[in-house]
Amino acid sequence: MEPAAASSIRSLLYIMFLLYSSLLIAPTSSQGDESRQANNKHVAIFVFGDSVYDPGNNNYLHVGIDYKANFTPYGESFFEYPTGRFCDGRIVPDFAAMYSNLPLWEPYLQPGSHNFSNGANFASAGAGVLEESEPRTLYSQKQLSYFKEVANLLKQQLGDAEAKKILADALYLSSFGGVDYMSFIDSTPNPTKLQQREYVNMVIGNFTDVIKEIYEMGGRKFAFQNVGPLGCLPEFKQQYNHSGGACVEVLQAITSLHNSLLSNVTVELQSQLSGFQYLIFDFFSSLNDMINYPTKYGFNVSKIACCGIGLYRGSECGRVKEYELCSNPNEYVFFDGGHASERANSILSNFLWNGGSEFTWPLSMKQLYELNSTTAIEILSNDKLLFPM
Ligand SMILES: *[C@@H]1O[C@H](CO)[C@@H](O)[C@H](O)[C@H]1NC(C)=O
Ligand SMILES: *[C@@H]1O[C@H](CO)[C@@H](O)[C@H](O)[C@H]1NC(C)=O
Ligand SMILES: *[C@@H]1O[C@H](CO)[C@@H](O)[C@H](O)[C@H]1NC(C)=O
Ligand SMILES: *[C@@H]1O[C@H](CO)[C@@H](O)[C@H](O)[C@H]1NC(C)=O
Ligand SMILES: *[C@@H]1O[C@H](CO)[C@@H](O)[C@H](O)[C@H]1NC(C)=O
Ligand SMILES: *[C@@H]1O[C@H](CO)[C@@H](O)[C@H](O)[C@H]1NC(C)=O
Repeated sequence: MEPAAASSIRSLLYIMFLLYSSLLIAPTSSQGDESRQANNKHVAIFVFGDSVYDPGNNNYLHVGIDYKANFTPYGESFFEYPTGRFCDGRIVPDFAAMYSNLPLWEPYLQPGSHNFSNGANFASAGAGVLEESEPRTLYSQKQLSYFKEVANLLKQQLGDAEAKKILADALYLSSFGGVDYMSFIDSTPNPTKLQQREYVNMVIGNFTDVIKEIYEMGGRKFAFQNVGPLGCLPEFKQQYNHSGGACVEVLQAITSLHNSLLSNVTVELQSQLSGFQYLIFDFFSSLNDMINYPTKYGFNVSKIACCGIGLYRGSECGRVKEYELCSNPNEYVFFDGGHASERANSILSNFLWNGGSEFTWPLSMKQLYELNSTTAIEILSNDKLLFPM
């Protein structure tokens, strides 16, 4: 077949695939599945976090190959090119955007113009809450400073009242902490209970400062994805030479402690900060459930990644010539040693958006989305007072 015809058939197949996947995963209201779609309210989403949420910001940073995913086979299942996402396709913030009628994410650092009325994604692979966990990435304070720039830009472009309304109604979606614990265990392989407790307090303390600053900038609606079961990731089981399949206990213990304190702190924040609304998405328990009961979710492989080398294909996906790649990532919970496959991400996103399971509380993301922040309502009514018809 001549190349032009081949490529147009390829594009046609790709378009058919896009249609098919959008029907599967983001039903439109014409399909009648009202519970899954946002109403036609427009709400911005600001995304903060690490590799789990990075849409390719690290493509624009001088970081090592370990912190990049801009080479094949990343992206192969959906985008058909490597975008920088650590996945064969879309990640949780992409599905959240689809549910919210927003476009898929462009990295905040991507040159060119952005429409910040829709929000922005600042997440960066390797980013910790603490700068010292990985200073070359966009650690939390750096992401916060970019958010402040965006907030100021919106004020310049749209005026104070309109910008404040957007910020008050926006969702602040975050995934932070994993990198801080990887770096801690690297430097302190056998921490005492007291050391673990002190470190978790420091991470959560700094994270709380970030949340409070976003609140002061006008943010009200926060969606926290907690830290995943690091010790059960193929990457760490392999690194720790756990040939029997057991999870790495110290990583499980410290991430559980973090998640417990995160839950407690959000309750406190709600009582301290007027109008503060939040949800916790229990990534730890939901991903663990997929690992332990893969067939319940239609997976047949949960302990070995689709892409990589070693006993669990836990590392080096696309980074060395001899890496292995499975033929169908949809059969796997993990695409690479540290990251879920697109299919797993779509199931996780369904828990996040629709709630109705033990994995998301006290609100679903859809409820948080539809909630009218009291601040936004006040701004609207003030507008009427200031500018009577
Ligand atoms: C930016 O997005 C908002 C909300 O979707 C839309 O109303 C506005 O027209 C967009 N602005 C530009 C310049 O495209
Ligand atoms: C934030 O982290 C620094 C170390 O980077 C620590 O000294 C400080 O106490 C932490 N802040 C809070 C509020 O825990
Ligand atoms: C795993 O085994 C390798 C090779 O024997 C060794 O270099 C490494 O230190 C071991 N890792 C751990 C965490 O025990
Ligand atoms: C969170 O609160 C519960 C209930 O008060 C308590 O048992 C638990 O120890 C707290 N978690 C942390 C990490 O402090
Ligand atoms: C997964 O299960 C299907 C159906 O039983 C089977 O055809 C396929 O070979 C399995 N894949 C793997 C990687 O085990
Ligand atoms: C939010 O406000 C809109 C428009 O003012 C209204 O239609 C909607 O019912 C409100 N939603 C909630 C959950 O109160």
